[in-house]
Amino acid sequence: MMTFGPISIRPDYKRKGYGKTLLDHSMRIAAEMGAGCLLICGNIAFYGKSGFVVASTRGIRYADDPESDAPYFLCKELQEGFLDGITGSYRDPEPYFVAMRNPEAFEKYDAEFPPKEKLVLPGQLG
Ligand SMILES: CC(C)(COP(=O)(O)OP(=O)(O)OC[C@H]1O[C@@H](n2cnc3c(N)ncnc32)[C@H](O)[C@@H]1OP(=O)(O)O)[C@@H](O)C(=O)NCCC(=O)NCCS
Repeated sequence: MMTFGPISIRPDYKRKGYGKTLLDHSMRIAAEMGAGCLLICGNIAFYGKSGFVVASTRGIRYADDPESDAPYFLCKELQEGFLDGITGSYRDPEPYFVAMRNPEAFEKYDAEFPPKEKLVLPGQLG
Protein backbone atom coordinates (compact mmCIF):
# COMPACT_ATOMS: atom_id res chain seq x y z
CA MET A 1 0.00 0.00 0.00
CA MET A 2 1.18 3.52 -0.69
CA THR A 3 0.12 7.06 0.10
CA PHE A 4 1.05 10.22 -1.80
CA GLY A 5 0.14 13.85 -2.36
CA PRO A 6 -1.10 16.45 -1.89
CA ILE A 7 -1.32 17.57 -5.50
CA SER A 8 -2.20 21.07 -6.59
CA ILE A 9 -2.67 22.97 -9.82
CA ARG A 10 -2.00 26.68 -10.32
CA PRO A 11 -5.33 28.52 -9.97
CA ASP A 12 -5.39 29.82 -13.56
CA TYR A 13 -4.84 26.29 -14.91
CA LYS A 14 -7.58 24.59 -12.89
CA ARG A 15 -10.48 22.67 -14.43
CA LYS A 16 -8.55 22.03 -17.66
CA GLY A 17 -7.77 18.39 -16.89
CA TYR A 18 -4.20 18.91 -15.63
CA GLY A 19 -5.02 17.68 -12.10
CA LYS A 20 -6.44 14.41 -13.44
CA THR A 21 -3.52 14.02 -15.87
CA LEU A 22 -1.05 14.48 -12.99
CA LEU A 23 -2.98 12.10 -10.76
CA ASP A 24 -3.27 9.39 -13.44
CA HIS A 25 0.44 9.74 -14.29
CA SER A 26 1.34 9.39 -10.57
CA MET A 27 -0.88 6.32 -10.33
CA ARG A 28 0.91 4.70 -13.27
CA ILE A 29 4.28 5.34 -11.62
CA ALA A 30 3.00 3.94 -8.31
CA ALA A 31 1.82 0.80 -10.13
CA GLU A 32 5.21 0.46 -11.84
CA MET A 33 6.82 0.73 -8.39
CA GLY A 34 4.76 -2.26 -7.35
CA ALA A 35 2.14 -0.61 -5.13
CA GLY A 36 -1.00 -2.71 -4.92
CA CYS A 37 -3.22 0.01 -3.54
CA LEU A 38 -3.19 3.78 -2.97
CA LEU A 39 -4.67 5.41 0.13
CA ILE A 40 -5.16 9.14 0.52
CA CYS A 41 -7.27 11.79 2.24
CA GLY A 42 -8.97 13.76 -0.51
CA ASN A 43 -12.23 14.78 -2.09
CA ILE A 44 -14.13 12.06 -3.94
CA ALA A 45 -15.39 14.68 -6.46
CA PHE A 46 -11.86 14.84 -7.85
CA TYR A 47 -10.29 11.46 -6.96
CA GLY A 48 -13.44 9.53 -7.83
CA LYS A 49 -12.87 10.46 -11.49
CA SER A 50 -9.71 8.32 -11.36
CA GLY A 51 -11.39 5.35 -9.74
CA PHE A 52 -10.90 6.08 -6.03
CA VAL A 53 -13.65 4.96 -3.65
CA VAL A 54 -14.29 5.70 0.02
CA ALA A 55 -11.90 3.32 1.78
CA SER A 56 -14.38 2.24 4.48
CA THR A 57 -16.50 0.66 1.72
CA ARG A 58 -13.54 -1.69 1.15
CA GLY A 59 -13.02 -2.37 4.85
CA ILE A 60 -10.14 0.06 5.39
CA ARG A 61 -10.74 2.63 8.14
CA TYR A 62 -8.89 5.82 9.04
CA ALA A 63 -7.13 5.22 12.35
CA ASP A 64 -7.35 8.82 13.55
CA ASP A 65 -11.12 8.98 12.97
CA PRO A 66 -12.26 5.53 14.13
CA GLU A 67 -15.86 6.48 14.96
CA SER A 68 -16.67 7.78 11.47
CA ASP A 69 -16.81 6.22 8.01
CA ALA A 70 -14.35 9.01 7.00
CA PRO A 71 -15.85 9.88 3.59
CA TYR A 72 -12.65 11.85 2.84
CA PHE A 73 -10.40 8.79 3.21
CA LEU A 74 -10.09 7.11 -0.16
CA CYS A 75 -8.50 4.08 -1.75
CA LYS A 76 -7.76 2.81 -5.22
CA GLU A 77 -6.58 -0.68 -6.06
CA LEU A 78 -3.74 -0.67 -8.58
CA GLN A 79 -3.68 -4.47 -8.70
CA GLU A 80 -7.13 -5.93 -9.12
CA GLY A 81 -8.19 -7.89 -6.06
CA PHE A 82 -5.33 -6.55 -3.92
CA LEU A 83 -7.73 -5.62 -1.10
CA ASP A 84 -9.71 -8.86 -1.24
CA GLY A 85 -9.70 -10.34 2.25
CA ILE A 86 -7.89 -7.32 3.72
CA THR A 87 -9.48 -5.18 6.43
CA GLY A 88 -7.89 -2.90 8.98
CA SER A 89 -7.06 0.67 9.73
CA TYR A 90 -4.55 3.01 8.20
CA ARG A 91 -2.47 5.63 10.00
CA ASP A 92 -0.72 8.44 8.14
CA PRO A 93 3.08 8.46 8.45
CA GLU A 94 4.21 10.24 11.62
CA PRO A 95 5.93 13.17 9.79
CA TYR A 96 2.46 14.26 8.56
CA PHE A 97 1.67 15.30 12.12
CA VAL A 98 4.81 17.25 12.94
CA ALA A 99 3.01 20.63 13.16
CA MET A 100 0.22 19.20 15.32
CA ARG A 101 2.44 17.19 17.66
CA ASN A 102 5.05 19.88 18.26
CA PRO A 103 3.59 23.30 17.38
CA GLU A 104 6.36 25.35 19.02
CA ALA A 105 9.15 23.59 17.15
CA PHE A 106 7.14 23.84 13.94
CA GLU A 107 6.54 27.61 14.35
CA LYS A 108 10.28 28.06 14.97
CA TYR A 109 11.13 26.10 11.81
CA ASP A 110 8.48 27.94 9.78
CA ALA A 111 9.87 31.32 10.91
CA GLU A 112 13.08 30.53 8.99
CA PHE A 113 11.19 31.12 5.71
CA PRO A 114 9.78 34.35 4.22
CA PRO A 115 6.27 34.83 5.62
CA LYS A 116 3.34 33.78 3.44
CA GLU A 117 -0.30 34.66 3.93
CA LYS A 118 -2.47 31.60 4.58
CA LEU A 119 -5.33 31.57 2.08
CA VAL A 120 -8.34 29.41 1.34
CA LEU A 121 -8.91 29.65 -2.41
CA PRO A 122 -11.79 28.57 -4.64
CA GLY A 123 -11.22 25.01 -5.86
CA GLN A 124 -9.35 24.00 -2.72
CA LEU A 125 -10.88 20.67 -1.83
CA GLY A 126 -11.26 20.08 1.88
C1 LIG B 1 -8.02 19.56 -6.71
C2 LIG B 1 -7.17 20.05 -7.91
C3 LIG B 1 -5.77 19.37 -7.84
C4 LIG B 1 -7.89 19.64 -9.20
O1 LIG B 1 -7.08 20.00 -10.31
P1 LIG B 1 -7.75 20.42 -11.70
O2 LIG B 1 -6.67 20.47 -12.74
O3 LIG B 1 -8.56 21.65 -11.53
O4 LIG B 1 -8.73 19.20 -11.93
P2 LIG B 1 -9.21 18.60 -13.34
O5 LIG B 1 -9.48 19.70 -14.31
O6 LIG B 1 -8.24 17.54 -13.77
O7 LIG B 1 -10.58 17.95 -12.88
C5 LIG B 1 -10.96 16.61 -13.13
C6 LIG B 1 -12.33 16.39 -12.53
O8 LIG B 1 -12.27 16.42 -11.08
C7 LIG B 1 -13.47 17.06 -10.57
N1 LIG B 1 -13.08 18.31 -9.86
C8 LIG B 1 -11.96 19.02 -10.00
N2 LIG B 1 -11.96 20.09 -9.18
C9 LIG B 1 -13.14 20.07 -8.52
C10 LIG B 1 -13.77 20.91 -7.56
N3 LIG B 1 -13.15 22.02 -7.09
N4 LIG B 1 -14.98 20.59 -7.08
C11 LIG B 1 -15.62 19.47 -7.54
N5 LIG B 1 -15.08 18.64 -8.49
C12 LIG B 1 -13.86 18.93 -8.96
C13 LIG B 1 -14.35 17.38 -11.75
O9 LIG B 1 -15.23 16.29 -11.96
C14 LIG B 1 -13.34 17.47 -12.89
O10 LIG B 1 -13.91 17.19 -14.15
P3 LIG B 1 -14.72 18.36 -14.95
O11 LIG B 1 -13.89 19.61 -14.90
O12 LIG B 1 -14.87 17.77 -16.31
O13 LIG B 1 -16.02 18.51 -14.20
C15 LIG B 1 -7.03 21.59 -7.91
O14 LIG B 1 -8.30 22.20 -7.81
C16 LIG B 1 -6.18 22.13 -6.78
O15 LIG B 1 -4.97 22.34 -6.94
N6 LIG B 1 -6.79 22.40 -5.60
C17 LIG B 1 -6.05 22.93 -4.46
C18 LIG B 1 -5.24 21.86 -3.76
C19 LIG B 1 -6.14 20.72 -3.30
O16 LIG B 1 -7.16 20.92 -2.65
N7 LIG B 1 -5.69 19.47 -3.64
C20 LIG B 1 -6.48 18.29 -3.28
C21 LIG B 1 -5.96 17.66 -2.05
S1 LIG B 1 -4.68 16.51 -2.39
